[in-house]
Parts: sequence; structure tokens; C-alpha cells
Amino acid sequence: MASIVRTVQSVLRFRRFETDLAERRLSRAASVSDLRRIARRRLPRGVFDYIDGAAEEELTAARNAAAYRNVEFRPRVLRNVDRIDTSTSLLGQPLAFPLVLAPTGFTRMVDPEGELAVARAAARAGLPYTLSTLSTRSIEEVAAVSGGRKWFQVYAWRNRALVKEMLERAAAAAYEAIVITVDTPVLGRRERDIRRGFTLPPKMGLDTIVDGALHLAWTWNFVRSEPIAFSNVIGGSVADGTDPVSLADFINTQFDAGLSWDDIAWLRSVWGGPIVLKGIQTVEDAHLAADAGVQAVALSNHGGRQLDGAPPPLQLVGPVAEAVGGRVEIICDGGIRRGSDIVKAVALGARACMAGRAYLYALGAGGERGVDHVLLQLHEGVRRTMALTGATHIDNVTPDLVRWRDQRNHDRHPGQIGG
Ligand code: FNR
Repeated sequence: MASIVRTVQSVLRFRRFETDLAERRLSRAASVSDLRRIARRRLPRGVFDYIDGAAEEELTAARNAAAYRNVEFRPRVLRNVDRIDTSTSLLGQPLAFPLVLAPTGFTRMVDPEGELAVARAAARAGLPYTLSTLSTRSIEEVAAVSGGRKWFQVYAWRNRALVKEMLERAAAAAYEAIVITVDTPVLGRRERDIRRGFTLPPKMGLDTIVDGALHLAWTWNFVRSEPIAFSNVIGGSVADGTDPVSLADFINTQFDAGLSWDDIAWLRSVWGGPIVLKGIQTVEDAHLAADAGVQAVALSNHGGRQLDGAPPPLQLVGPVAEAVGGRVEIICDGGIRRGSDIVKAVALGARACMAGRAYLYALGAGGERGVDHVLLQLHEGVRRTMALTGATHIDNVTPDLVRWRDQRNHDRHPGQIGG
């Protein structure tokens, strides 16, 4: 009998019961898809769909992520990968691994701390955080909580004096670079938001009350925190979001569809620091961006939220690197769900990647600790992938490390795509 008990004891090992609910949820989230699933359960449907959704048939959003599955590694072995260094530099400054947190508006809808939580987690991870023009915490509030690298994303308000004033505030608050988003002359048609009658902040109707009652933890946090507004323009001459508006109405009335390359020259004249152009989607425009004197381009289709049918950024990395890689730094934005995705983009010629939804799902799943969790997971994923492919340093993550799976492209030079 005693021996049976000993045998049972030897195989039965209970894990310590985690009493902290957020910690328990996160400890079981092995991937970004797990975080997405948890966020979907915890957030009201309208909020989850606002994050998760994309334009029209959402083909581009799906293809952004799927593109990574079409690249496979050419792993090298016996290369002594005892020490892996994932650090690199972007715009002349260091980062812990090749990732920047993308700008996302209205982050306080996901968690009451909003942009403050994400900026703090980014600083802890040694990564730049990009604050959106349409943030729900202001330029100064974010600067007050984060001593890390901060970029400010700019939309072209019709009121150019407002743009200039925002850039002055960003410079005064030690933001290092601006990111000019150029893929949003008008808002893409986000059909999930239309179906739900989604507004910012959410309007209270019978359906939202039912939705809120089904997501009590979120609702409790939401009603206890101060009202949500576009913090960067509060009390100014333009709508500040304290009255519910649809995003399409807001963007289409406040932002200038007349933006052109001349305006980039103007922005260069009013901003002394580095400029990233976000939303470049062809080699031709990458050439024009380099000619315009910007320091970096973010190959991006806004996570598939603007033009459905736009190409996945990963497919553009090789051709753009070949065309202008010597003149501008290349950031690949959209579809990043794993550390191995980042390694693939870097191998094809990107200096770094940007990610949006990965950290928003994490914020919805576990608040600020959720963002720490996902950034750690992505970092570990980069390190593990480098070890498994025989690359000890980011400089060794080169085109010969990968190939496109499509049979037509097997014989092509790495980094090239089919015609
Ligand atoms: C965004 N994105 C975005 N981009 C931008 O320039 N300004 C903004 O205010 C926003 N807002 C925003 C909100 C939400 C909820 C999402 C999901 C995205 C686009 C973002 O910066 C980035 O391009 C995409 O998120 C990249 O795709 P992934 O990483 O989400 O797949």
C-alpha cells in the first residue's frame, strides 16, 4: 500500500493555484491567438470588433498575417548559438529587438489606463511606443509616465495650425520621431462597426446595455474611469470626441483628403527630428518617400483597415529593400503574431516591424500585465527563432535565412516575390 502511495505521489504534482485572476488568465495564454480569444470573451462585442475588424471583406487583414506562413526558414546548424543578441537600432537609437508598437486610437476603450499602460510596458521592454493622434491619453500624459522611446503619429487635420501645435507639444515632451500616416485620406469601410452602429465613445442603447451586462468586469472599469475623449484636442477648436461620433464621420470631416507630397515637405520644415511615412504600399511610393528625405517608411495597409485588396506588407519588404534599402529604413507593419514573423520580415530586409492588434488583444486580456506578457513572448520568440536558424546577431538575419514557399518563387533570389 505504502509503495502505491509513493508511486502516486511521484507522478501527481499539483501546480500552485494562482489566485490572481489576471495572472491566471495570462499564464495560460501561449500565443497571440490565445490572447485574442480571452479578449473576445472579456470585451463587449462592439469594442472587440472595433479592434479585430478590418475593411470590407477583411481580405487584406487576413492576408497580412497569412503572408508569414508562406515564408519558410533555411535553418543553419552547428553555429554555436549559446549567446543570442536580439538588439538592433532604428533611427539611430537602440531597441531590444526589432519591434515598434504601432499607433492605435482610443486605447482606453480596451482598458481604463489605455495608452499609459501600453507606453509603460513598451518602455520596460526597451521598445519605442507610437502614440496615435486620436489617443485617449494626451501627448504630455504619456510622456509623464514613460521615459522610454516615444514616437508621435500625425494625421493631417484640415486645421494645419493644429498639426503644427501638436508637433510643438510632441517636441517639448521629448518625442523622438513623428509617424505620418498616409493611407487614410478617407476612412476605410469597416463593416463590423457599421453593423453595430459603433461610435466613439460607445453610445448607450439597449444593445450596449445588454452587451455591458454580459461583460461586467469591463463595464465596471469603464463607468468608474473618467470620460473618454480625444485627449490631444480636448477643449480646442475641433470636435474632441466627448459627444459620440462615428469614426468615419470624424475622419472624413476633420482630416484633409487633399494631403500630398508637398505637405510632406511642409511637415519636414516644421518638425526637426526624424520622420517615418506609414502606409507606403508600392515600390514607386517608397522611391518618392526616399526622395522626400524621410528617414524611414512603414510598409503598411493599416492592418487591413483601409483599402481591402491592398498587398500584404511582407511581400513588399524584399522589393522595397532592393529599391531604396540604402536610403531609408524599412519597417514592416501588419500581421505580426509571433516572434518568428519578426525574424522573417527582418531576413527579407526590414529593419524592424510594427504591431498593433497583438498588444491590444493582450491589453484586453490582462491589462498592462497582458502587454508585458505579449512583448516578452514576442521577444522570446525572436530569440528562439534566431537560435533555431543559427543566427546569433540581428546582422546575421539575412535573406539567405528564408525563402518563399510558393513553388514559382523557389528559384528566385531570396527576398524577391513572383510577378
Ligand atoms: C489602428 N491603426 C492606426 N494607425 C494609425 O496610423 N493611427 C491610428 O490612430 C490607428 N488606430 C488603430 C486602431 C486600431 C484598433 C487598430 C487595430 C489599428 C493601424 C495600426 O497602427 C497598424 O498599422 C496595424 O494595427 C497593424 O496591423 P496589426 O499589427 O494590427 O495586424
